[in-house]
Amino acid sequence: TRKAFIFDLDGVIVDTAKYHFLAWKKLAGSIGVDFTEHQNEQLKGVSRVKSLEKILAWGNKTISEAEFTKLMALKNTDYLTYIDKMDEQEILPDVTKTLDFLRNENQHIALGSASKNARMILEKVNILEKFDVIVDGNDVTKAKPDPEVFLKSAQHLNVPPEHCIVFEDAVAGIQAANNAGMISIGIGKKDILHEADYVFTDFTEIDIDFLNELISK
Ligand code: G6P
Ligand code: MG
Repeated sequence: TRKAFIFDLDGVIVDTAKYHFLAWKKLAGSIGVDFTEHQNEQLKGVSRVKSLEKILAWGNKTISEAEFTKLMALKNTDYLTYIDKMDEQEILPDVTKTLDFLRNENQHIALGSASKNARMILEKVNILEKFDVIVDGNDVTKAKPDPEVFLKSAQHLNVPPEHCIVFEDAVAGIQAANNAGMISIGIGKKDILHEADYVFTDFTEIDIDFLNELISK
């Protein structure tokens, strides 16, 4: 059967999760809030607005709406200085191989990301054309773990949720996939992503037999 394979972007296709972390850390520091790498797991996969809300809550801060908007812009400007330097080298191991295999097997390929910078990043690393459908932070109103971003991808492709497979590095993203009624595959650590149907450290661990199994199910 023709399945839809939906990829998250940050932390799955490229290691921009580290850049988000650095930019949020700096921004938080500038308003006297500190957070740990453990807390950072809760920022993965969620929107820019929601991330700043969480950081403010951790620091017990309340700010004006104008200040909030300013801080979001500052974070993004800083983040973009990292993105600006990106090229194909930053595509994570075996991601391209997996995309090409799925394309060759005539499977649907989609991007489901909370990021408003998604298209730009895919262009930078030169894999934009490998995706049939892109749903990103500009297309959704509800942040992961809400399933909106993945359900929209599935709708565009006209594939029922139970025929969709989602690759995610974030707890909120795995929850979003599960909430959508899709198969969830965690990319990262088993203890963090324990709600996923399957977990792999990275794409080098995902072999052809496993992908074929998902396709033929
Ligand atoms: C992804 C990342 C988050 C990021 C969010 C919004 O889901 O995992 O860390 O905050 O996208 O990204 P943006 O590029 O729009 O700020
Ligand atoms: Mg991610």
